[in-house]
Amino acid sequence: MCGITGYIGYRDAYPIIINGLKRLEYRGYDSAGVMLYDGNSINLSKVKGKVSVLEERVQENNSGQSIIGIGHTRWATHGIPNDLNSHPHLSQSGNLAIVHNGIIENYASLRKELKDRGYTFRSDTDTEVLVNLIEEIKIQEGVKLGEAVQIALNQVIGAYAIVVFDSEKPDEMVVAKLGSPIAIGIGKDNDEFFVASDASPFIEYTKDAIYLEDGEMAIIKKGREVKIHKIQDDEEVDPNIQQLQLSLDQIEKGGYEHFMLKEIHEQPEAITDTIRGRLLPEQGIIKISGLENNMKRFLNAERIIIVACGTSWHAGLVAEYSFEEFARIPVEVEYASEFRYRDPVITEKDIVIAISQSGETADTLAAIKMAKSKGAFVFGVCNVVGSSIARINDSGVYTHAGPEIGVASTKAFTTQITVLTLMALRLARAKGTITSADFRLYLQEMELIPKKVAQLLQVDKHVKEIAQRYLLSTNCLYLGRGYNFPVALEGALKLKEISYIHAEGYPAAEMKHGPIALIDDRMPVIVIATNKGHYDKIVSNIQEIKSRSGKIIAIVTEGDITVKEMADHVIEIPETEEALSPLLTTIPLQLLSYYIAVMRGCNVDQPRNLAKSVTVE
Ligand code: G6P
Repeated sequence: MCGITGYIGYRDAYPIIINGLKRLEYRGYDSAGVMLYDGNSINLSKVKGKVSVLEERVQENNSGQSIIGIGHTRWATHGIPNDLNSHPHLSQSGNLAIVHNGIIENYASLRKELKDRGYTFRSDTDTEVLVNLIEEIKIQEGVKLGEAVQIALNQVIGAYAIVVFDSEKPDEMVVAKLGSPIAIGIGKDNDEFFVASDASPFIEYTKDAIYLEDGEMAIIKKGREVKIHKIQDDEEVDPNIQQLQLSLDQIEKGGYEHFMLKEIHEQPEAITDTIRGRLLPEQGIIKISGLENNMKRFLNAERIIIVACGTSWHAGLVAEYSFEEFARIPVEVEYASEFRYRDPVITEKDIVIAISQSGETADTLAAIKMAKSKGAFVFGVCNVVGSSIARINDSGVYTHAGPEIGVASTKAFTTQITVLTLMALRLARAKGTITSADFRLYLQEMELIPKKVAQLLQVDKHVKEIAQRYLLSTNCLYLGRGYNFPVALEGALKLKEISYIHAEGYPAAEMKHGPIALIDDRMPVIVIATNKGHYDKIVSNIQEIKSRSGKIIAIVTEGDITVKEMADHVIEIPETEEALSPLLTTIPLQLLSYYIAVMRGCNVDQPRNLAKSVTVE
């Protein structure tokens, strides 16, 4: 978490840094800060609150004279969000400035040692310890900044992406990475450099970028090629300069009030991009290169273990249904954070599928490493191209949802389900566990999904009216069965994360084992009652809610009669196969939480305490 930016070149650094921080705010927004160097001295501004608060503060003082600077937007780990704990942090002498994303685990012992040597600390952060450790090494060993950073990092346990600036060597910056991502943008003829947690802050300036690998550090100096070394043994590494595919309009709101709404509406296109070239109904085939290349392994797999967090974990649960129904492979779905700290039984015959939008989630990354160390084959389903998880997997597939900026995941979820369903069908075909008639039917149905999602997005106004009725609710229950049980979980997650209404998702039948006690005439219950699911069973559940005066909002298939008569509100989805229905039933639930949150005055793109990319465990 935390977003970091840096600039060294010939332009006014401040607007580049502040606009970059705005693009990185999805990573955290408890506090923000910027350090600008004007040729003589370091100017530091840092505040509790969002980047806009920092902007107001700096506007008055920025002389436009700085061509070097670093910035940070924080998601607090050590120390509460306040001005003092905000980054950048200066060293005791005031010569060094640092921004950091990650956690220094042995900071307490380092802090004590430094205190014994006369250092005092202004903040409660691990980061201030690191910058002082670098300073102490620089002074004691009489080395330059790069060397001091390297020695310090070899004493540190934890995860980091850092940028360090030294006013005694103001034409360079030192960047290092272990665990947290960092990209370096390279200007024409090396006349300027950009540093950021992802490439979005600098895409209008350059398409050439280097993503540092774990354990690497870089020294960037105006007019000189980037020098990369391994932190541990100083071995020189050839810079791998990549061409960025990202464009500016992909990361702007494009006329929508919020990124979340834009991303909800992008789903027809995102799903189309995800199936393009993979779903070929005319030829009657599905082709996913990562899967084709490892088909034998998948066909011999005794078990698939899916690891993920948050919304991605919900997509994994949907996949459990499709892989088991179609490909007849046993599936277990695990929270990455639990899986990594258990001592799970994993064999070489297991395939681990790791699902992650960002490709940076610390727990998922650690679960992958653990599974690989036990000999499992790891297959990744990621959205962000070139992300840590995408790079560490044995093989994988991208979802092609495009950048997702709203903290509440929407199009990432539906594209994950899309690609996982295609995988399940492809494996079923290869294993002969699906008839060719059914296989064709699913191909044709899947091809129609983007159109059906587009049609469903027209329910916008109707959903808004329902949102208006329930915006003051304090609790909410989401029920579904089969493929739509994970959708109920996801619907509840969306509501609680952006509107702060307590919501729970449950398998509809489990309602009787607890949640039914909560139902009264103030309790909205959202029930997913598609016609090809366990319809009759769901109808009985609805009766049970009705008998206890619960308010029913039902998601039904077009043409439904029975549920319509019982529910207080219905939202219709187009007809489709049950296995594909999560791609449709999810849409009104996304819209419902969006509108309730907006009507409650919540910041939907940046809900409190959350961050999009969870790079700490
Ligand atoms: C955070 C985000 C969620 C996301 C989860 C897992 O909690 O707010 O939207 O589902 O992390 O992230 P990943 O990038 O691994 O899918």
